[in-house]
Amino acid sequence: MYWQADQVPRETNAKLWARLIAPRPIALISTQDVNGLPNIAPYSSLALVANFPPILSISFGRHANSEKRTLSNIKSTGVLTVNLVPRFLADLMNQSAENVEDQDDFTRLGLTSVSGNNVSCARIGECPASLECRLLRIHDLSPSQCELVLAQVVGVAIRDEFLLESEGFDPLAADLLASVGAEDYISVNGETLTLPRTWD
Ligand SMILES: Cc1cc2nc3c(=O)[nH]c(=O)nc-3n(C[C@H](O)[C@H](O)[C@H](O)COP(=O)(O)O)c2cc1C
Repeated sequence: MYWQADQVPRETNAKLWARLIAPRPIALISTQDVNGLPNIAPYSSLALVANFPPILSISFGRHANSEKRTLSNIKSTGVLTVNLVPRFLADLMNQSAENVEDQDDFTRLGLTSVSGNNVSCARIGECPASLECRLLRIHDLSPSQCELVLAQVVGVAIRDEFLLESEGFDPLAADLLASVGAEDYISVNGETLTLPRTWD
């Protein structure tokens, strides 16, 4: 099979790319709006693009009629926290993807809010590791409708039980979750699961 990239059938396109570039780590990104209202949503277009200093890239699509709230909050506050997602939070992660307006997502999802050390937004206490980041720059990815955020990590919070003496962090013990398709997931310990799509 060979496709010109612009000839991939429209109904197959998003599914194909979600399966070709896989597995992708999943982060629950916590931000807050200008009034301090917290927001949490999952993102899997996450990549570490430099490590000294550490810089992450995250790509944002759009809701049907609006910008993703996470991106709006990053633009208006300049900060975000990237919380790594363990297998046991898979269902909550999927719930967090629903596009719900004007609610404190920590309360909505029953997650623990821990004040940031270096950023104004809170981290998720249940997550094994949380990366506090400051916005570096945003690139318009036209002709796609996406925008690429480059963010510098300014603080790393790791739960004590997942610390490794010389290597810092144990992703196997944390049993991190990754995306391998639009609705398909694996944990680093090899479990596969399917969760219905909840988001636009
Ligand atoms: C596992 C997973 C990964 C996702 N990754 C992305 C992503 O990388 N970029 C994106 O724009 N949306 C992504 N989404 C969709 C957003 O989470 C969804 O649109 C959400 O409603 C955005 O919420 P917000 O407007 O509060 O930021 C993903 C959803 C899931 C379940």
